Amino acid sequence: MKKKIPQHVAIIMDGNGRWARQRGLPRTSGHKKGAEVVEQILEDADDIGIRYLTVYAFSTENWLRPVMEVSALMNLLRLYMKSAKSKCMKNNVRVRVIGDRTKLDADLVSSIEQLEKDTASNTGMHFQIAINYGGRDELIRAFRKLMPAVRDGSINEENIDEAVICSALDTAGLPDPDLMIRTCGEQRTSNFLMWQSAYTELYFTDIAWPDFNKEELLKAVEAYGSRERRYGGLTEENGEASE
Ligand code: IPE
Ligand code: IPE
Ligand code: MG
Repeated sequence: MKKKIPQHVAIIMDGNGRWARQRGLPRTSGHKKGAEVVEQILEDADDIGIRYLTVYAFSTENWLRPVMEVSALMNLLRLYMKSAKSKCMKNNVRVRVIGDRTKLDADLVSSIEQLEKDTASNTGMHFQIAINYGGRDELIRAFRKLMPAVRDGSINEENIDEAVICSALDTAGLPDPDLMIRTCGEQRTSNFLMWQSAYTELYFTDIAWPDFNKEELLKAVEAYGSRERRYGGLTEENGEASE
């Protein structure tokens, strides 16, 4: 039987700080190593046959961190947006950023827009980076986007359905994640893709993000392959045989 490969994998890349601390390094070294790992995993995911990869780079809550750490994270993102083009073109990767960019520095926003534009017609992997992203914030922004259309009558209240809400989310047009991976032991989703992960399979590993690699990704994909997704219904096995 052909192995079941998740079409869309979402990753909560956690443990950069702990990884660094264990080595007596500053937290920012963990983030730097973590950023290198993302680039490698993007290629590994492509090799495995995953079509969509979405990574959580900075949450709406991560502003609570010390200013120095926030600016180190923003600088890594800046560096990525500025340097990723040639590799993305070579590997046919389309990059999109999800999250509220109105709170990001203008120069970062313009390099995000540039990279999105440059890679917009690539037809290989879809790579989403969540920056200043929060699932609740995304829903608030979606409601705000829809309100004017409801008010002027172009959307009727009774026509608001899942499709209408999906279309107003940052992930409009993307399939829901099939598999969500979180590294470094914590078992929570920390406001990542709340709406979209309603039926996502969750996979937790103790490996810290900077140590994550293709072998670990394959383990997660393997675990996914052995899960039975029921979506609230019955499968042949647990359903009654037809009489
Ligand atoms: C993940 O690593 C990176 C971000 C959240 C930006 P952490 O920085 O959360 O690392 P720990 O959880 O403190 O080890
Ligand atoms: C989630 O990790 C956010 C990102 C990976 C960007 P956190 O380390 O911020 O999550 P909590 O605070 O442990 O829930
Ligand atoms: Mg953390």
